[in-house]
Amino acid sequence: MVELKILKKSNECKARLGRLFTDHGEIDTPVFMPVGTNGTVKGLWQNQLESLQASIILGNAFHLYLRPGLDVLREFGGLHRFMSWQHSILTDSGGFQVFSLSDKKILEEGVKFRSPLDGSKIFMTPELSMEIQRAIGSDIAMAFDECVEPDASREYVEGSVGRTTRWARRCIEAHRGSRQALFGIVQGGFFEDLRERSAAEITSMDFNGFALGGLSVGEEFSVTTRILAHSVDLLPSDRARYLMGIGSPDIILAAVENGIDMFDCVLPTRMGRHGTALTWTGRVNLKAARNRFDRSPVDENCSCAVCSTYSRAYIHHLLSRDEMLGKILLSYHNISFLMNFVRELREAIAEERYMDFKTECLRNGLIGSN
Ligand code: GUN
Ligand code: ZN
Repeated sequence: MVELKILKKSNECKARLGRLFTDHGEIDTPVFMPVGTNGTVKGLWQNQLESLQASIILGNAFHLYLRPGLDVLREFGGLHRFMSWQHSILTDSGGFQVFSLSDKKILEEGVKFRSPLDGSKIFMTPELSMEIQRAIGSDIAMAFDECVEPDASREYVEGSVGRTTRWARRCIEAHRGSRQALFGIVQGGFFEDLRERSAAEITSMDFNGFALGGLSVGEEFSVTTRILAHSVDLLPSDRARYLMGIGSPDIILAAVENGIDMFDCVLPTRMGRHGTALTWTGRVNLKAARNRFDRSPVDENCSCAVCSTYSRAYIHHLLSRDEMLGKILLSYHNISFLMNFVRELREAIAEERYMDFKTECLRNGLIGSN
């Protein structure tokens, strides 16, 4: 089971400090959760994640169902043992991944699609998603929801809100008797009234925490912040609040200001693989030729193992030769950067200087949505 203890509420804004207790440890919130879709935070191994004090990572029901498959996961007694990770794991339900497939059929019963691996037919239902997440043995499972396209019509979003509620009810039913925590997901696109309806329906059910889904799907930053400012308050304040799929520092700042406790994103590792570093003064493209002779670290203000060991020039060289170490070093730095960023943000909340911290971050150029 998972319990959230609120340690402090900011006097300046809606930010809060908390501690989540799971069977695999304690998690200080607000928390950034590195994404390990396939049972690996790409490029990092467990010791490194631990050295960065990652207390919870994300897994994905959809991907882990395709490979290694439920038989392997069950053989090993779950993902923790399979990947040798002793800390907490949250799994996404597959809702988001299934909906990003082009060839799918959404029915009341579930979603029909073809396996991206071998083209075989798969029928993902709330019950199957619960079964997969149970086999994975994550500490926190997510309800199976429908995440709509950013340009979906009001009529369509209305239908999807109803479906997401009915699926949530089936998830609760299928999950009954499990020790695993289960979070509900609020949808509703960019329509405030539909967000309200979804939140009222989802929070009326006995979930251990609540997430906002359907954001950062390609909309403008101002739209994300408008929905955040409106919707976080619709979630009960005594349960964990999770903003799904968001890891860009500027949106994290806005999310925490509105009372979000948890977020995840592939951004740090994906950007790392593409040769981009997150820094306190913005994004840096290490592939650029200007780094050839640069003796400085990736980020002057970072004390991670990469920044205290390697020059920009060396990492530029690795990237230009397509050496895997270049991507690994940048992935490590980027995860380290976000972990430090969120740690400093927690300190700022504790010391009642969150708004100054936010202003300072933005003034220094720490931006970069999408
Ligand atoms: N990850 C990012 N957004 C979403 C969402 O809306 N639903 C789910 N299940 N996962 C997500
Ligand atoms: Zn660093």
